[in-house]
Amino acid sequence: MIRSKIAGVGMYVPKDVYTNNDLTRYMDTNDEWIQERTGIKERRYAKRLEETTTTMAIEAATIAIERAGITPQDIDFIIFATLSPDYYFPGCGVLVQREMKMKEVGALDIRNQCSGFLYALSVADQFIKGGMYKNILVIGSEKHSFGLDFSTRGRNISVIFGDGAGAVVLQPASKHEQGILSTHLHSDGEHAEVLAMYNPGTHGNHWANGQAVANFDDVEMGQAFMSHDMIDMAQNFPNMDGQTVFKKAVVKMPEVVMEALNANSLTTSDIDLLIPHQANLRISQMVQKILRLPDEKVFNNIQKYGNTTAASIPIALCEAWEQGKIKEGNLICLTSFGSGFTWASALIRW
Ligand code: UT7
Repeated sequence: MIRSKIAGVGMYVPKDVYTNNDLTRYMDTNDEWIQERTGIKERRYAKRLEETTTTMAIEAATIAIERAGITPQDIDFIIFATLSPDYYFPGCGVLVQREMKMKEVGALDIRNQCSGFLYALSVADQFIKGGMYKNILVIGSEKHSFGLDFSTRGRNISVIFGDGAGAVVLQPASKHEQGILSTHLHSDGEHAEVLAMYNPGTHGNHWANGQAVANFDDVEMGQAFMSHDMIDMAQNFPNMDGQTVFKKAVVKMPEVVMEALNANSLTTSDIDLLIPHQANLRISQMVQKILRLPDEKVFNNIQKYGNTTAASIPIALCEAWEQGKIKEGNLICLTSFGSGFTWASALIRW
């Protein structure tokens, strides 16, 4: 069977660096708390108007396409993962198609938050393996800075996130032993409200800490989609019970890595590099410990960029590749966990 391989990888992060100390201008926080709990030292924020989720994606995609040795006109399918799209609809995929002057190819948008990139990669992998497409552009991009609560009320979430984009081009592998060996996708909606942005939405509820606290039966028809009340209650910002997310992540990420290894009759000692979704350095360290991997086999860059959700894995993959940490023949393992909950893994023979 034909496998798919990553033929090119690219990334883009905005120029503007915001250190932990910079955030103290907006909220009651401090460098010590942020570093101790998350490992994050700084993050990047996009220029407020000039840069969007799509413009950052295009920067990353341009590099990935060039490295794959093709042009935007060769792309025959686009898959775009983000939770911070330019518009509520349409998705960013069509904007990439338009701005990069691609042919009238299909564009699919994926909404799986921190697992978005791995879900996108898995879909692309099936299309290549099935022979339907030859050059698929897979993107993860986020502009979180536009939609975070920068007051003290939102500090448990806003200090974590950063902006950026990563992209890969998937092609059929020419060598038999090369490419994506398998992908593994999971979800458990029981905790859907534990890490969520509730509005705008069509459920008609006010939420707090994962619980519906009131509904909108007193609101006029057509006005409950986004009301002033919702904004006053910070419903337009992400809401998270961080400890529940943390506890689940450190169980599910090692589990789905083992699932991938077992499916390919491999063991943890076969892994050359593990790239976990950059949620929190403490989560990555715990996953590393459970899998008993040495430091040099785990790649983290959350210290510089914060958590960039769907972009974190392709950014880390790109940076690891640029630093020469990924070589031909290496076994690369990617894994994610996030809102939904959704979690995933991919094993790649580079
Ligand atoms: O990509 C996947 C999505 N998210 C994650 O993976 C996040 C997983 N969870 C986490 O990383 C951690 O839960 C956090 C880093 C988000 C929070 O750490 P925590 O140890 O769970 O803190 P907490 O929310 O329980 O808050 C502990 C204390 C509270 O103060 P009191 O009530 O003990 O006085 C908070 O008000 O820390 C306070 N706090 C802060 N203090 C300074 C919360 N945020 C901040 C802050 N600066 N930014």
